[in-house]
Amino acid sequence: MQIRNIISLADITMEWWESLYAQCCEIIEHPADYTDACKGKVLATMFFEPSTRTSFSFQAAVQRLGGGTIGFSDPLGTSASKGETLADTTKVISQYSDTIVIRSPLEGSATAAAMYSDVPVINAGDGGHFHPTQTLADLATIAQKRGKIENLRIGLCGDLKYGRTVHSIVEAMSIFPGISFHLISPQELRMPDYILSQMRSRNQDFIESEDFVQTIPELDILYMTRIQRERFHSSAEYRRLRGIFILTNELLKQAKPDMLIMHPLPRYGEIDPQVDSDPRAAYFDQVRNGMFIRMALLLNLMHSPRQAPPPLLGNNEIKCENPACVSQTETYLLQLDSETSTKFCRYCDREL
Ligand code: CP
Repeated sequence: MQIRNIISLADITMEWWESLYAQCCEIIEHPADYTDACKGKVLATMFFEPSTRTSFSFQAAVQRLGGGTIGFSDPLGTSASKGETLADTTKVISQYSDTIVIRSPLEGSATAAAMYSDVPVINAGDGGHFHPTQTLADLATIAQKRGKIENLRIGLCGDLKYGRTVHSIVEAMSIFPGISFHLISPQELRMPDYILSQMRSRNQDFIESEDFVQTIPELDILYMTRIQRERFHSSAEYRRLRGIFILTNELLKQAKPDMLIMHPLPRYGEIDPQVDSDPRAAYFDQVRNGMFIRMALLLNLMHSPRQAPPPLLGNNEIKCENPACVSQTETYLLQLDSETSTKFCRYCDREL
């Protein structure tokens, strides 16, 4: 199975994952065999929002494959600041590159970019929507630590409303058997309804809880997340919720001896640094594996043939009302025709 764009993980198959992970393991074992694998290829990074891990890991990944990077980490230095559309910026940058990586605060921006790109597009995080390559790093870490990804009780804890990494994890986990989720958050930061609907339609097993301490002993994996300050409309609300769940060595005494402690990072107080020396802490392994799995992904995508996308079909009769949706600012973007689907925004997945 060949996937051209990595926008979400909704369509991945077990075969696709196993092949990607096998490639990742091969790279880890024999890095010298890959130093020219993407020689002459150019990765473009379009970062409209700050990043350390995703940005640096993609740059490191392509350099380790013998390729190079172009890109920006501050859109103020580009013609986007003069009002150039995302469509034009993407089309132009796709003329210089072989794959584009995009991060944006706007939900659905990677979907929109892929509609105008002549080369594959990778979603490096679109607002509070999805972050698929972080999930690939997470899956690689679970597979590495546990041998198999199956029969796991996973606690997702913290900001499940705005935390894009947890949205991608539940999507990807639907291909693995025996996975159940404890969704641990305060009411205000519950998993959004559109993600819960998707989980129900895929028959994924989950329960929602506000009780962090009582849930810990049940878990095989505890996946902590940061409260996403940058997505709050009220700083008072953020301050009220910040620090609501903090993982300490004391709490970990209740956990299973082989429970994995995961976090996409950056953290902001939700894991005490003293936990770092616990052998169950896997978050810096996630960082390292993130680079290797992105190498495997780039090996897959960067040799794809250049191909102009089909013309954008649809209409503008129904507007998405999600203020964080890319279609709110890139107003030329069309929704699907009613015969195809009118129920959900094609960019941010919210009900229309
Ligand atoms: N995990 C993650 O996406 O980190 P960055 O925001 O630093 O890229």
